[in-house]
Amino acid sequence: MSFQAPKGTFDWIPPRSERVLAIREALAAPARRAGYGYVETPVFEDTALFARGVGESTDIVSKEMYTFTDKGGRSITLRPEGTASVVRAVLQHGLHNGQLPVKLWYSGSQFRYERAQKGRYRHFWQVGAEALGAEDPALDAELILLAADGYAGLGLTGVRLLVNTLGCKECRPGYRAALQEFLRALDLDEATRARIEINPLRVLDDKRPEVQAQLAGAPMVVDHLCGACKAYHEEVRSLLTASGVAFTDDPRLVRGLDYYTRTTFEFVHDGLGSQSAVGGGGRYDGLSEMIGGPSLPSVGWALGVDRTLLAMEAEGLLADESAGERVQVYGVPLGEEARRRMFLLVTELRRAGLTADMSFGAKGLKGAMKGAGRSGARYALVLGERDLAAQAVQLKDLTTAEQTEVPLAEVADILKGKFS
Ligand code: HAM
Repeated sequence: MSFQAPKGTFDWIPPRSERVLAIREALAAPARRAGYGYVETPVFEDTALFARGVGESTDIVSKEMYTFTDKGGRSITLRPEGTASVVRAVLQHGLHNGQLPVKLWYSGSQFRYERAQKGRYRHFWQVGAEALGAEDPALDAELILLAADGYAGLGLTGVRLLVNTLGCKECRPGYRAALQEFLRALDLDEATRARIEINPLRVLDDKRPEVQAQLAGAPMVVDHLCGACKAYHEEVRSLLTASGVAFTDDPRLVRGLDYYTRTTFEFVHDGLGSQSAVGGGGRYDGLSEMIGGPSLPSVGWALGVDRTLLAMEAEGLLADESAGERVQVYGVPLGEEARRRMFLLVTELRRAGLTADMSFGAKGLKGAMKGAGRSGARYALVLGERDLAAQAVQLKDLTTAEQTEVPLAEVADILKGKFS
């Protein structure tokens, strides 16, 4: 019997897996430089956290959650996103009682039972950053900049930034009512009509052309903002402009989670087909209260690692698919005794701070040298019976094929010198 990874999931294997690690690091680096601390939360939480935090009417909660009852009878859900968990952790540990904003970043897998296709998986990876407990347009701008820097750090040039505001609890109800009135007059199917009553903003996000065609004259949130939201949004935009970040105002950008207020944004890449969002986020001033905490105005984002890799591929940034240098030195023992000695030598090299591997299994010289080549090592160490008797080893430069005999006792120092 042979197994396959479940539908909508896949394995990262070398050499690509190295790219994924590097992408996670590069996306997180700007946030770390800005003083964001690392947080790690469980992969599963109480189902109610997401139901209340992300919102019952969202696709994520209503259709896509991996929910099960554990052996203790609790309803548990594999996290579909990181923000609700981070807010829960901040509240649980009282981090919001200290210096504000609380700045945190995370990196982890998320689970959504989605229709699997390119760029849309059931198990995917996000790097996220959240700043909790401050209402300050500079904080929104900071986060947007950090994400933009993350993409730039990977050499991506085709990432576009879309920005919008969704208003606040003062002005949103008026807008919502105006939008509902407009939508109720349209020719829409039953499910969409139901959505008008529960979450009318989501109707704006309907991708079907027959729906989009009717939405042309829909009221826009920007025309219904209160004075405070208007000023706040103008300041975010002006800070972005001042720091040289290009963006497009997208009054239709609503995002798929219910907790957003004011600033929302998305990073899109045109080389990805329909799943073009490589990252997104926004302000969520009411989320803490939605899950039983105090008022804690906050803002954050999550960047999709898998889609970022696809974007890099689309820009030809992954053209070199070779393994690269897996190790610096590769040992080629010839014979049983040489194998024992090589094992100790490779251990010595590793302890000296070099990266080293050796040929395992009974391979002849040819097979072992092939392994050396594949490892990407700069040097091979060939150890035969005659070398052992002379307490020496053959040091072969794999780029020039030049070979020199060096004493076994000195080889670690010699190699350290070559790589320093
Ligand atoms: P989101 O827009 O649902 O936001 O996800 C953020 C990013 O995760 C997306 O832009 C996309 O790159 C990636 N992503 C989402 N779903 C999938 C999938 N099925 N397959 C592959 N990649 C995917 C959030 O999750 C919010 N928690 C962001 C946030 C943080 N807002 C405030 N703070």
